[in-house]
Amino acid sequence: MFGQKKRVAEFEESRAGAASASAPPLAELLVVREMPSARSPQADNAESLVRSDLFRVIRSGVFASMNASAAVGKTREQMKPGVEQLVLEIAEREHLNMTMAEQMQIVDELLNDMFGLGPIEPLLADETVTDVLVNGPDQVYVERHGRLELTTCKFRDNAHVINVAQRIAAGVGRRVDESSPMVDARLADGSRVNVVLPPLAIRGASISIRKFSKRNITLHRMTQQGNLSAAMATVLKIASTCRLNILVSGGTGSGKTTLLNALSHFIDAGERVVTIEDAAELQLVQPHVVSLETRPENTEGLGAVAQRDLVRNALRMRPDRIILGETRGPEAFDVLQAMNTGHDGSMTTIHANSPRDGVTRLESMVMMANGNLPLFSIRRQIASAVHMIVQIERMRDGMRRVTRITELVGMEGDVIITQDLFTFRYDASAYSEEVKGEFECAPVRPAFAPRAAYYGLEEQLLEAMKP
Ligand SMILES: Nc1ncnc2c1ncn2[C@@H]1O[C@H](COP(=O)(O)OP(=O)(O)OP(=O)(O)O)[C@@H](O)[C@H]1O
Ligand SMILES: [Mg+2]
Repeated sequence: MFGQKKRVAEFEESRAGAASASAPPLAELLVVREMPSARSPQADNAESLVRSDLFRVIRSGVFASMNASAAVGKTREQMKPGVEQLVLEIAEREHLNMTMAEQMQIVDELLNDMFGLGPIEPLLADETVTDVLVNGPDQVYVERHGRLELTTCKFRDNAHVINVAQRIAAGVGRRVDESSPMVDARLADGSRVNVVLPPLAIRGASISIRKFSKRNITLHRMTQQGNLSAAMATVLKIASTCRLNILVSGGTGSGKTTLLNALSHFIDAGERVVTIEDAAELQLVQPHVVSLETRPENTEGLGAVAQRDLVRNALRMRPDRIILGETRGPEAFDVLQAMNTGHDGSMTTIHANSPRDGVTRLESMVMMANGNLPLFSIRRQIASAVHMIVQIERMRDGMRRVTRITELVGMEGDVIITQDLFTFRYDASAYSEEVKGEFECAPVRPAFAPRAAYYGLEEQLLEAMKP
């Protein structure tokens, strides 16, 4: 299994070559990643270990005595005994002292280097981690329970980060190097990755991984977690069932896509749904779904397919509903058109800090798409297309809350009139770690009550709106 001694550099080079040449590595990596990694109690010392002389000596020894091609096509589990034995041999030969725990850790790190994504491997396997953010070799942050934490995880050096970044890109058939230093990709397990290399990233290569949550978060679950009140959940459920056009608005990572996904559960199984996304994240449970994904331009700058193209195409696919992952450009115009022309029940998300802000953003996006339209007609289109805006916010305690459910009820002069059905009001008198406050129901009759009546849901709606 292990051939002649090879120089470390040579091995590294051929390994990098092998990673980009053969397609399966990433699929394999992901399988490996899902296995719970055996983290020793000394895991917190991992970073010092990775940079220690002990590790360096063993690492170069292992890579030097291993035949590069031996690893190709093998799984982590198949390689493990060989690596273990090599580590022992080298330790003996070099008279190195190490504990059993250190030895296990070294083997684990070496295997992570060969198969996985290096030192961040355990973080990716950790179910409680939602995001992994690498800012150069010395700084790795993770998000847990909605909050960022600095980890003790470190890379050997910048080249090590770049190596891992290249492996990620190669696994999805993309390249990241000096000529294309930024890559946005979706991994086979649905996680999203963004890579920026130096010199664009000044403090070393940056890797941002937003892990794909396998948990399907439902409205019911969100209610239990306190993301919204039971009454709000009922109103949203009715709104989705009676095919309102809904805009989910919020900041980055506030949970817009998750909420959109939860809302989509109430789409009737008999409807034909077309989803359009940059990176397919939505997990619709209905049987009749066509999922479309945009495509970036290739290295020659050709072949890009934008969201706008897909929205236009979707209209020709006889959809009952169109779900656009995120509206952030000229496709806003086409989405409004769709909403206004019989594709009721369409939903999308928008990056905005309040429902009002969301409307303003929509206006400017439509203007980008169609500069000739007067503001008044843009507003009228928005007012008649969008029925409801749901604002979600990730608050300072890391908790996500639906802070507003707002209806667009029409125009007065050239102003869009809105009506809040629910708001989250924080208790300003009681400052604590946890944000205190209440979801308040406004004493109003929802403008969509007649529509709910049409679907036989008016009584239920008015019941939920009782203060
Ligand atoms: N209600 C929730 N409870 C627990 N975790 C949540 C909740 N909503 C979202 N998350 C987690 O937060 C992360 C970001 O969520 P999501 O992708 O929905 O946000 P987003 O607003 O769409 O982000 P972006 O701005 O990148 O599009 C995910 O890992 C998701 O699992
Ligand atoms: Mg999103």
